[in-house]
This record gives sequence, C-alpha cells and structure tokens, in this order.
Amino acid sequence: MTPADTALRQRVTSAFTTHFGEQPLCVVRAPGRVNLIGEHTDYNDGFVLPCAIGPATMVAASARSDGKVNVIAADFDGATDSFALDDITPATQGWANYVRGMVDALKKAGLPLIGADLAIAGNLPKGAGLSSSASLEVAVGQAMLALTDTSIDRTRLAQIAQAAECDFVGTQCGIMDQLISAQGKAGNALLIDCRSLNLTDAPVPDDMAIMIVHSGVTRGLVDGHYNERRRQCEAAAKAMGVAALRDADMDLLNAATLDPTTRARARHVIGENQRTLDATVALSNGDLATLGDLMAQSHASMRDDFEITVPAIDQLVAVLQTAIGPQGGARMTGGGFGGACVAILAAEQVHHVRAAVEQGYRTPDGSPALILIERPGPGVSILS
Ligand code: GLA
Repeated sequence: MTPADTALRQRVTSAFTTHFGEQPLCVVRAPGRVNLIGEHTDYNDGFVLPCAIGPATMVAASARSDGKVNVIAADFDGATDSFALDDITPATQGWANYVRGMVDALKKAGLPLIGADLAIAGNLPKGAGLSSSASLEVAVGQAMLALTDTSIDRTRLAQIAQAAECDFVGTQCGIMDQLISAQGKAGNALLIDCRSLNLTDAPVPDDMAIMIVHSGVTRGLVDGHYNERRRQCEAAAKAMGVAALRDADMDLLNAATLDPTTRARARHVIGENQRTLDATVALSNGDLATLGDLMAQSHASMRDDFEITVPAIDQLVAVLQTAIGPQGGARMTGGGFGGACVAILAAEQVHHVRAAVEQGYRTPDGSPALILIERPGPGVSILS
C-alpha cells in the first residue's frame, strides 16, 4: 500500500468508527483513471486507452439487518444520507445519488443485497475529469457485494456502475471510467474495445512518465454538453447508416450528407478511434515521438471538431507541448470543458516540464496547478 492509500484508509476507517461506533467489516478501494487517448469514443462502440491511477475512493462498510443504508461522506463536511433498500428515490445531495444509484442498479441487476453502514472518503481531485464519480460507484458496488459474500465479474460490476450513472444520475456516459476503475492493472494502460469489452494490456515502460495537470477549471458532466455530444454522434451514425461511429470511416463520412457540426463531431470520433489504435502500437514500441504527435492531433480534434476544450485547457496543453518538445506530448483528458490534461514524456524530463508548468500556467483563481506523476495502478480491491 502506498502512503497515500494508508492515509486514506485511516481517514475512511476513522470516519466510520466515529460515526457508527464500531469497526467496519471491510474497506474497498476503487481507483480513479486517466485516459491516455480515445476521448468520447467509448459510447460510439470505439477504442479507449486509459489506466487506473493512485488517487482513489475508499468505502468502509458493515452490514445492517434492518434493510437501511446509512452513509457518511468524509469529504463533504461529514454529510450523511440514509435510505431504505426497498425505496430508493433520488437524493437532494449530488454525491448521494452515486451511492443510491449504485445500490439501485445492483438491485435491478438482481443481485443479493443487505442493509449497510457506509463511510466514504477519497483523494481524487473533484471536477478534474479523473473519474471520482466512477470510482465511487465501483467502490460502493464492490462493498455492497462484499457484505453478502457475492462475487461477480469485474466487467459486470462496471456495467452495473455505468447503468447507475446513466439511469439514476442522468449522464449518458460510456463504459470507460467504470471499466478501468474495476479492471485496472498495475504497470499497464488497457486498450478497451468498447463494443466487445475486450481488454488488451498495454504496458507503460518504466522510463516513460505519465503527468496529469489539473487546469483548475471544473465542470460536471450533467450539465447537458456531454449528453448533447452523444446525441450528435448517434445522429451522425444514423445518417451514415451504421450501428455506431465505430463502423464508419473517412470515406463514408466524406460521402455522407451531414450538417457541418454533425460532420465535425463524427470526424473527431472516426479519427480518434484510429489514433487510439495507433497510440497503443506506439506505446508498446516506446515511441514517444509518435505518441506525442497522436496526442497533439487528439487535442486539436477535441478543440476544433468536437469543441469540448476551453481556453485555459488549450493554454495549459500548449505550455506542456512546448516544454516536452518532440519526444512525447499532451492533451486534455476526460469528458471536457475543463478538468485535467495528461502528458506522456520521458521520465528524465519530468523535473523540467514541471518547472515549465509552474512558470507558465496559473489556474483561474491564480494558484499553481495541481501536478500528479502517476504509474498505472490496479483496479478495485477489497482491502480487508
Ligand atoms: C466521461 C465519461 C466516459 C467518456 C469520457 C470521454 O469521462 O464518463 O464514458 O465518454 O467522458 O472520453
């Protein structure tokens, strides 16, 4: 366990014992993720290349026999929530809907459930696009299953978590975030085929560094832009007569009659799928120059065709790209409209690139950006 994991485990356990007056039966850890490339491709049945990271959400849990679920969220000033398993309705507090939604989705999946006391704590920066919500869903799901001694396939757990987010929270997200939080593998990014859900290991060489920089611009996914992009992609696929944009190519796109916005959205997804496959090859060859080019193309496509970047993010990516030079690259990562950028670079360049970001970028409130250096970590686990 890393020192950060140990500290987080102590925090979640202490929140549990203080609030519920006993030790938890188990503690579950589910990681956040960074997506190296393949943005807004997952819900188009396409390819993504994420890895699980160190920052995570932990849930401490014990069973109750009265069919109630009581929750304390250590990170939201000790806010609490309580609901009955046989009457799960939407909550007024945003964070509580991820918990209620996950329990509801487990129930709808027909899995055995028992009442529970839950404490939640995490060390993922919120609104950074590093999947704090997916990690919460996966951790809650795994904890609830552990209480009834139920084990299910991790991909199924991820699908149930995705259903929680789509059906209960209301974001029509793809499977990437929940799947990598459930299935992450230390030392590896995973190439995910979001149609077959086939996972291919993509080892990240030790001499390559993954740097994550939070722009400080935060924005949730529920505010409509995300769902709008998904509708536009579906409309493009329909107009081209394919089941999903995964099945389209540039020739089909060029031949199709589409309005300029829909065409641009589809061009992003078609290009991004190919870039993701190409980046997987470049990663396995340790080819930083090609990876950097692909990341730059991905960012330009998100900015110009998919229109999901914001000026602060474009500026941060420019600072990173200039500092890194041709051996590696940077792009926005995650759903967009703010959040974090990811850079891949030679490990020996980290010091210099960090200094360039400290020097050349400030968040909107004038403070230095949060910088994380990550190695791919494991997926969800039961710690005790
Ligand atoms: C969010 C969603 C994912 C994915 C990304 C964009 O993180 O939850 O399913 O669509 O945005 O790649």
